[in-house]
Amino acid sequence: MAKKITEPTRMAKERAFLVGVDIYNQQNWLTLEDSLEELSLLAETAGLKVVGEATQSLSHPNPDTFIGSGKLEEITALVTETQSDVVVFDEELSPRHQRELEKKFGDRVRVIDRTALILDIFAQHADTREGILQVELAQYEYRLPRLTRAWTHLARQAGGGGGRTGSVGGVGLRGPGETQLEVDRREIRRKISNLKKELEKVRSHRSRYRLQRKRSQIPTVALVGYTNAGKSTLLNYLSNSEVYVADQLFATLDPTTRRVKLSEKNYCLITDTVGFIQKLPTQLIAAFRATLEEINEADLLLHVVDITHPNAQSHWQSVQETLTLLKANEIPTITVLNKIDKLPEPEKATEMTRDYQDAVAISARTGVGVNELLNMVENILYFKMVPLQVKMPYQQGRLISLFHEQGIITQTVHQKGGVLIDGKIPSRYLSLFEPYFSKENTDSEEEL
Ligand code: GTP
Repeated sequence: MAKKITEPTRMAKERAFLVGVDIYNQQNWLTLEDSLEELSLLAETAGLKVVGEATQSLSHPNPDTFIGSGKLEEITALVTETQSDVVVFDEELSPRHQRELEKKFGDRVRVIDRTALILDIFAQHADTREGILQVELAQYEYRLPRLTRAWTHLARQAGGGGGRTGSVGGVGLRGPGETQLEVDRREIRRKISNLKKELEKVRSHRSRYRLQRKRSQIPTVALVGYTNAGKSTLLNYLSNSEVYVADQLFATLDPTTRRVKLSEKNYCLITDTVGFIQKLPTQLIAAFRATLEEINEADLLLHVVDITHPNAQSHWQSVQETLTLLKANEIPTITVLNKIDKLPEPEKATEMTRDYQDAVAISARTGVGVNELLNMVENILYFKMVPLQVKMPYQQGRLISLFHEQGIITQTVHQKGGVLIDGKIPSRYLSLFEPYFSKENTDSEEEL
């Protein structure tokens, strides 16, 4: 979304060597090959040139060097032969792994992991004040345990990139800045604490805005999906806006919200969110809490899937898993099978929708199927009723009357300090009542 990415200004692209590791019993949605292919795309998005790769299967990581010693010898030779500047591991490395590996590969070569790479891409794409602060905070937190003498030599080319923030690991990877690589841990802790304070300010402003939006009672819909699934393209199509679309991973970082007309009288607000990816480090999920809060507060989720991608099913699964982590898996969801214009037999797409609950096949590029999608959205937001039992204090007079006006009440019990109401309301109002739920709402839903 949002903006064009500035091409890194370094003279020649850095050469990257990729290392994929298959650890037995570790659940991954993608195969080792597919995961490595994704890492390669991430590396290219970060501005690196991939010059080689190696893989290893392990029962558990080596405590010092992550991979086994024989494999390490083999990779060291390949790194020299391919004149690689950076070795990128597909797994999260501990600070100790990173130090030991850097010792082994020598001064000229840096070692980074998937998290550092994703952080770097995030740094390039952050656009709003909040986004930039979030990335800086995540980068400092990532760097703090890794700040050793070994890091200082990496400052030599830092700041040469096109991102707004500095460099995580130097040499063209953006992070908090060249001079910052020389500051001590205390300085970094001070920065972390300042960034947190500043973020709190930005966030409280945002939550006030969100409250206002809720009061306006226009239901909100969040677009979720694997990176590159077509969320921004869909939002563009629906709102005729110019949200930035790129065939790159994580083009969208900051949430963008647009008002979309569903029918003559009904509207909703649709928010684009950051693309998901398998192995999205939990640290990053925490850092992007604010962006992801948009998901938790939505009345409906549109889970966009690139149905033409060979790993579409794994992508779907990994997004569902992240939604569960975010406790957003209870929110009503429509699965949007996108890019059907690319299928050799687009009509087959309708059959595919049967594999999912509440699914629709569309092309965000041509608009095929979008009307059907809007009908489904309107139906769920405006016509579907959900059972609800709430206990509300008498001071919540406006919410109580909203229940009376918009819902169907089956029972009202006046108690000391509040009223217990049992009934049904249109699903778009559900989140307003959340603080007063008196028991779990059942799954059963029915049409008005
Ligand atoms: P992130 O920001 O990384 O999360 O990506 P996104 O899900 O917002 O994807 P985006 O809309 O940026 O689209 C990714 C690529 O897919 C772009 O090149 C789009 O032009 C392309 N694309 C999106 N929808 C369609 C579609 O329906 N058909 C075809 N053929 N291409 C599409």
